[in-house]
Amino acid sequence: MTELSGKRIVVGVTGGVAAYKAAELVRLLVKAGAAVDVALTAAGSRFVGAATFQALSGRPVWTDLWDARPDNGMAHIELTRGAAACVIAPATADFIAKLAHGLADDLLATLCLARACPLLVAPAMNRQMWENPPTQRNIAQLRADGVGVLGPASGEQACGEEGLGRMLEAAEIFEEIVAALQPKPLAGRRVLLTAGPTFEALDPVRGITNSSSGRMGFALARAFRDAGADVTVVAGPTEMPTPRGVARVDVVSALDMRAAVLQALPGQHIFVGVAAVADYRPAAAAADKIKKSAAPLTLQLAANPDILAEVAARPDAPFCVGFAAESRDLAAYAEGKRQSKKLPLVVGNLVADGLGGETNAVTLFDAKGAHPLPPGEKLAVARDIVSHIAAMIDPCTV
Ligand code: CTP
Repeated sequence: MTELSGKRIVVGVTGGVAAYKAAELVRLLVKAGAAVDVALTAAGSRFVGAATFQALSGRPVWTDLWDARPDNGMAHIELTRGAAACVIAPATADFIAKLAHGLADDLLATLCLARACPLLVAPAMNRQMWENPPTQRNIAQLRADGVGVLGPASGEQACGEEGLGRMLEAAEIFEEIVAALQPKPLAGRRVLLTAGPTFEALDPVRGITNSSSGRMGFALARAFRDAGADVTVVAGPTEMPTPRGVARVDVVSALDMRAAVLQALPGQHIFVGVAAVADYRPAAAAADKIKKSAAPLTLQLAANPDILAEVAARPDAPFCVGFAAESRDLAAYAEGKRQSKKLPLVVGNLVADGLGGETNAVTLFDAKGAHPLPPGEKLAVARDIVSHIAAMIDPCTV
């Protein structure tokens, strides 16, 4: 994973129990290739010591406004100069109040005020501290100032109470940082995707399905969201978690998927059929479990509607993208599907390269021809697909 290589991130740690999660966050950022500078407040260092952050980041840790190490003696300016982002995790109620009012009475508060890079805060506090009007006023002010507020989550708190105020997990904050650093060519656009397999019931316990994992569909959902779009996924049966900020409708069969897509369609700018929709379903599902017998069993199958072709044929069709997973002759089949379903773009791949796995190798087929993308992890491939779509929709945005 090298999502952040070449980027420098400043992580500010203030005084909350959730500071232990900041150690994991630093580890994830470093693993993703970022150079991480940690700035600790005096209270933060009561929870996790500078030695831990120094070991995890492999760089000096900053705590003192009067630190003499930078040549010009100005740690408060040097630290955020050229940084891709500054992330405060955990951000206490007290520190959020300082940020909202522009106070600069310690190193971290000063470097937040002196920065030019984006600022993200991950609040962590007791439920009542979060809910009280001063904190809510301060958070509203931060949002109005363009600061990204990550969470908080709801759940069990260190003080024994339950409610809003728990800091997001390190992996969630990491995802939000990566998302915040992506270009936003699709800001204000609405995107609908199908993902995963469908399951066509044969009787109450059996059915016809396929080995689609839903990974590519959910990677695309995340990439579209990170590109600024408002995203809805209609998902067949899959265990894939929903990316934060993405709306999800769970369905089982192709007919359910079609109904959910048609319901969510009004107002969508882009529709992407990533789902491996079963082309056929049992003509009649048995109400009771089918019992075995010695005689051969013949299944009668009925054709399912082609959801993508139906959406693309509408007079008010959004920009429609199809997927073609083929076992051979990729270019001919993928381009054939593009033309027969009247799509501006088809993403083609050989099943051996993508189905069920973590990586994929795809070629894009549009009116200008075939464009092979660099193979890689599904999220990296998804980001490339999204930027190709953004360029086709509005060449000025990329
Ligand atoms: N698709 C769909 N509804 C279906 C079948 C397919 O929306 N009932 C969409 C898929 O999500 C994908 C594209 O159509 O984006 C291509 O699907 P595929 O099954 O490969 O194409 P088919 O036209 O069904 O061709 P074949 O199965 O013969 O390869």
